[in-house]
Amino acid sequence: MIRAKAEVEGLTPYVAPLEGRRSLLRLDFNESTIGPSPRVVEAIRGLPPEAYGTYPEYAGLNDAFATTLGAPVSHVEAFNGVDAAIRAIFDAYGEKGSTFLTTVPTFGYYEPCAQQQGMVIDEVPYADDLQYPLAAITRKLETRPRLFFICNPNNPTGTLLAPETVVALARSAPHTLVVVDELYVAFTGQSVVPLALELPNVVALHSLSKAAGIAALRLGFAVGHPTIVERLRRVTGPYDINMFAVVAGLAALADPDHMRRYVVEVLAAKSWTMDELRRLGVRHAGEGGNYILVWPPGDCEVAVKALRGQGILVRSMAGKAVIDGSFRLSIGTLEHMRRFMGAFSGVGLAHSRSAR
Ligand SMILES: Cc1ncc(COP(=O)(O)O)c(C=O)c1O
Repeated sequence: MIRAKAEVEGLTPYVAPLEGRRSLLRLDFNESTIGPSPRVVEAIRGLPPEAYGTYPEYAGLNDAFATTLGAPVSHVEAFNGVDAAIRAIFDAYGEKGSTFLTTVPTFGYYEPCAQQQGMVIDEVPYADDLQYPLAAITRKLETRPRLFFICNPNNPTGTLLAPETVVALARSAPHTLVVVDELYVAFTGQSVVPLALELPNVVALHSLSKAAGIAALRLGFAVGHPTIVERLRRVTGPYDINMFAVVAGLAALADPDHMRRYVVEVLAAKSWTMDELRRLGVRHAGEGGNYILVWPPGDCEVAVKALRGQGILVRSMAGKAVIDGSFRLSIGTLEHMRRFMGAFSGVGLAHSRSAR
């Protein structure tokens, strides 16, 4: 065996249980439960065969996204999903031996990216009530970490900070690149864009995977100061985004009403689900985003398996700091959430009764 570089040999990879999900009700990865605008499907169906044999063209894609934000196009770059933007950020800025500051629990892909660069990882836990550890982070920023990630709202806790607070943190740390992962911004309406556009140390991340419903096609955007965006381009391949994603992205952006309607529906379904859980006396949490954490009264793993048996997927958070014993429940349409509550009332609560 030829050993990879030391950082890779020591790496804990990010593994997501993503196989065999298609026929089930997928409330485990915060995807859209209705899929994209019909215009996306039409646009892909309408492609001539020669489009398949030609390297992709990107003209108009950054402009279309910049227009939705009201930001200049020089501040925007598309990536093969936000995952690829995250990797580019670590490739471009993650110097070996420098510090990567973040919170825990948070999105699972940051840590292996930092490990891969040989960075020192400094993770500050959320409080037991899932509040953001603002005082501790403020102190840590004084030590000038190289990179600081804030997932806002945080996946999986839902913790949401006001954009003004994030911008104040960034202003206090001009030597740190501050990455604001706003993957769920469609559901909160709260962004550091445009506030942070002129700051040379802030980049925000947005995606068409969730509310726009094209997770399979992979399209995300980095939005920040042109000096940062230009560095990220340097470490990205010329054709990393495939042509289907470009065509689908343009079609999705041309139909903002599809996304708006879905967001309204999800937010209503989220309130309904939280009301039901409250009525049943089940602990739950979820401020921003199209997901909440649920602590089933009995054993979490048993509840997750039993739900799977009923054709419903949720993501177990067993073993995770601060939120052990919970599962993350993605919110879909009201109809989907009624189906979840029907199954959960049977399995989640039945187990607690038999455990007593
Ligand atoms: C917080 C967060 N960041 C980034 C990603 C990756 O997004 P994308 O599908 O655009 O790669 C996810 C996906 O679940 C996420 O939850």
